[in-house]
Amino acid sequence: MTVVKADASQVEELAELNRQIIDDEQHPESMTRAQLAERMASWLQDGYVGYVAHRAGATVGYCLFRDAGRHYYLRQLFIARSHRRRGLATALLDWMYANVWAGKPVRLDVFAHNERAVAFYKAYGFRVAVLRMEK
Ligand SMILES: CC(C)(COP(=O)(O)OP(=O)(O)OC[C@H]1O[C@@H](n2cnc3c(N)ncnc32)[C@H](O)[C@@H]1OP(=O)(O)O)[C@@H](O)C(=O)NCCC(=O)NCCS
Repeated sequence: MTVVKADASQVEELAELNRQIIDDEQHPESMTRAQLAERMASWLQDGYVGYVAHRAGATVGYCLFRDAGRHYYLRQLFIARSHRRRGLATALLDWMYANVWAGKPVRLDVFAHNERAVAFYKAYGFRVAVLRMEK
């Protein structure tokens, strides 16, 4: 797997992957592809940084984060459906810790119903720090 920092030319590709995350996590928001692309473009202009994972010449996943001062905020992590359970998300986060993230914790929000992602993050060593409740 190789990992490359995303640039503005990849907004459409990242927006499509973001759409697949929304489907996978049964996100309550519904946004059009155009809205997702617009949001991705503004994230990349406003301090978010994307890293895209490739394998055998194809994009297999990405993560998107920002430096939030005392911590890094991991907003999105995605591995393509056909490539899951092969250690790619683990390899991508390992690469991020080895090459990008240093000196402060990484935080993220994950839907409680997204059992696959919760299982992944726990397996990777993340622990629940705050429970956000809603009624
Ligand atoms: C969560 C996600 C990134 C995991 O990617 P992945 O490449 O399949 O993860 P890995 O292969 O590195 O998994 C490492 C370990 O995490 C755990 N894990 C991963 N997926 C799991 C699942 N579906 N069920 C249970 N445990 C799981 C396992 O312990 C796994 O080790 P194992 O395969 O040896 O049992 C991927 O499923 C995904 O993109 N999901 C949709 C997007 C999403 O919900 N992202 C998070 C919110 S932004």
